[in-house]
Amino acid sequence: MYQAPKGTQDVLPDDIAPWRYVESACHRLAQQFGYGEIRTPIFEDTGLFLKGVGEATDIAEKEMYSFRDKGGANLTLRPEGTAAVVRAYLEHGLYNRPQPVKLYTLMSAFRHDQPQAGRLREFHQWDCEAIGEEDPLIDAELVVLLWQLLDDLGLRGLSVQLNSIGDAACRPQYVRALVSYFEAHERELCPDCQRRLRTNPLRLLDCKNPQCQPLIAQAPRSVDYLCGPCAEHFARLRHYLDLAALPVTVNPRLVRGLDYYTRTVFEVWPPTVGGQSTLGGGGRYDGLAELLGGRPTPGVGFAMGIERVILNLKAQEVPVPPTPPLAVYAAYLGVAGKDQSWRLVQRLRQAGTSAVVATGDRSLKAQLRQANALGAQWALISGDAEVEAGTVQLRNLARGEQETLPLDEAVARLTRVERVAV
Ligand code: HAM
Repeated sequence: MYQAPKGTQDVLPDDIAPWRYVESACHRLAQQFGYGEIRTPIFEDTGLFLKGVGEATDIAEKEMYSFRDKGGANLTLRPEGTAAVVRAYLEHGLYNRPQPVKLYTLMSAFRHDQPQAGRLREFHQWDCEAIGEEDPLIDAELVVLLWQLLDDLGLRGLSVQLNSIGDAACRPQYVRALVSYFEAHERELCPDCQRRLRTNPLRLLDCKNPQCQPLIAQAPRSVDYLCGPCAEHFARLRHYLDLAALPVTVNPRLVRGLDYYTRTVFEVWPPTVGGQSTLGGGGRYDGLAELLGGRPTPGVGFAMGIERVILNLKAQEVPVPPTPPLAVYAAYLGVAGKDQSWRLVQRLRQAGTSAVVATGDRSLKAQLRQANALGAQWALISGDAEVEAGTVQLRNLARGEQETLPLDEAVARLTRVERVAV
């Protein structure tokens, strides 16, 4: 027997309600904030991600699902959305539109990581990007958008973590300070950090190994090395977040796992913080468009992990609206009854009422058992006697009450019921 590949999951009908709940909130709020929906391919040229995400990141080094297709093209299942959205922005000349261009997508992403709760190999993101604007007001808007979505869903006790990691003008000086600080303590670092010191020193700040924590706590802070324009940008961002009454924690240790970030970085953490817990994160990527061959174009965005949000909705016992129940199950006895049931569901469905017709030759008892399993509110039962009389039995499945009605009346009543229920 085959099983779903490690790190992937099936979502069965009984589990779909929170997905619908989260996804419809994402669509609604993105529209409310003026973000248009974009959909990009599930795979892209491998080079896009190597360049975009950065070759020295964990994602590019060990997590990408890369393959060569039958035509010899080097392709990769997208490990994230930003590089692809910026690629589409450049490819379709969206820079000719009034800026910024605000885009969102609900997408699957793929990373070959060690699966655990909240960490999958195929996962889903709500990704929002604002491209073509440097103004920190747009950074603030994105932080508010992520926070409001999570708050609207009913999650409580979240914290917004914020930092600025500078830009091409001031970051090199900060990285130098960081490297010389850690080099002085190299032997106290975990083996991963010793390696990162050469490849991606900023990522040392993100190490979870207890051995490295005392050193990280004393490390130089990027906010102390910001150049004038970056410091001004960060101050104005905090001002706009203040005006939006959004409580944020300035966290000088916050760095992110992708190389394209400049200036703003942020994450939203749930109340119980653990390695796999970050609900969403993002930041500014003013150099990315140029890196991908476009003209210099600022941008900022975030992505939220849908599986992690659903885990938190469950942990916080947030009530989720159920999927709409099935209205009618049409059961039958005999050949004529089956024909009548089939005709009845046509009429009900055309009138917009949800209806399922029994199939096969199971007993009436088995058919009604299925009606209950499907959560149907009503059963319509047709046998020879009903067909002859032009009637049908209408049974309220919750109450067990049953009455015989002329066909038209039964249909009229059920279509009315459905409209009221909707
Ligand atoms: P990221 O931090 O790599 O950022 O991922 C964003 C969110 O996706 C995480 O906070 C987490 O909720 C979820 N996530 C990441 N990896 C996994 C996984 N293996 N399993 C389950 N959920 C996961 C980005 O992807 C950037 N593209 C965000 C961004 C957009 N920055 C600017 N614009």
